[in-house]
Amino acid sequence: MDELRWDTISSDYYSEVLSPLKDCKHNPLFDDLKILKGKENELSIIELGCGVGELVPFLEDNFKSVTAIDFSQEMITSAIDRNKARNDESSTTFLVKDMANLSEFEGKFDVAVAVNSMLTTDIMKLHLMIKEVFKILKPGGKLFVIIPSMEVYIYQNMLFVDQKLNKGQMQDKVLEQASKTLVYSSYDAFQGLIDFGHEDKQKAFYRFEIVYRFGKAGFSNFNIEMVPYRWTKWKQAGQKYFPKEEPPWDWYFTCDKPV
Ligand SMILES: C[S@@+](CC[C@H](N)C(=O)[O-])C[C@H]1O[C@@H](n2cnc3c(N)ncnc32)[C@H](O)[C@@H]1O
Repeated sequence: MDELRWDTISSDYYSEVLSPLKDCKHNPLFDDLKILKGKENELSIIELGCGVGELVPFLEDNFKSVTAIDFSQEMITSAIDRNKARNDESSTTFLVKDMANLSEFEGKFDVAVAVNSMLTTDIMKLHLMIKEVFKILKPGGKLFVIIPSMEVYIYQNMLFVDQKLNKGQMQDKVLEQASKTLVYSSYDAFQGLIDFGHEDKQKAFYRFEIVYRFGKAGFSNFNIEMVPYRWTKWKQAGQKYFPKEEPPWDWYFTCDKPV
């Protein structure tokens, strides 16, 4: 999805997007950012792809300086308006910027956070973005990321098959149906791409990609967890519903730029 498509979503963001900041059972990101406690009031943080600025108040309350970037002009306008309405004296710097070009910030931040904003389907651009994020951190800086999980779609498919088999349906038929569900034009399981239609194609990540792709850029000390969605929210987003099973998830991870 390019910046113009995100522009169109900004005015009605929460009816279009499932958000780990609002729709999850729990989100370790908040506690982990608080673990920096004692130090956080001295630290600078950049939010990469801030959208309508949902996370900004939390960051402002906990960090010395906050920079929030997004490549969509409309997202940044909404974020500024929402933040002004909340806090007239906000000190956050909002900028329209693409994560693939952050050269002006080299070595400037202690912490960077990206919540479901590394979604480009262009692999070369994704690698460039990760390299840029590495460069803008100070040595010893920390990166916090939430990204969509690709495993979730395979997981849903397995649950779908099991549910049908448990109802006594014929295995051949069930597998044929299942193959149409995942190996459907909406999913590219090799590249980890999902096409929601209306030009809304985005990247989802396998767990192994996290260490591979971010490790190649120089990050180390990975800690990877699941951020579980509420099944009800998942269903509202048009996905399959298996409320008795473990919920679907995004990947959440932290890693460091070595000192
Ligand atoms: C799903 S929204 C998430 C917004 C916000 N992080 C949140 O969780 O509420 C993705 C955001 O990332 C932004 N984005 C996507 N690719 C970007 C890029 N290359 N550079 C900067 N922002 C980008 C989009 O414009 C959009 O606002």
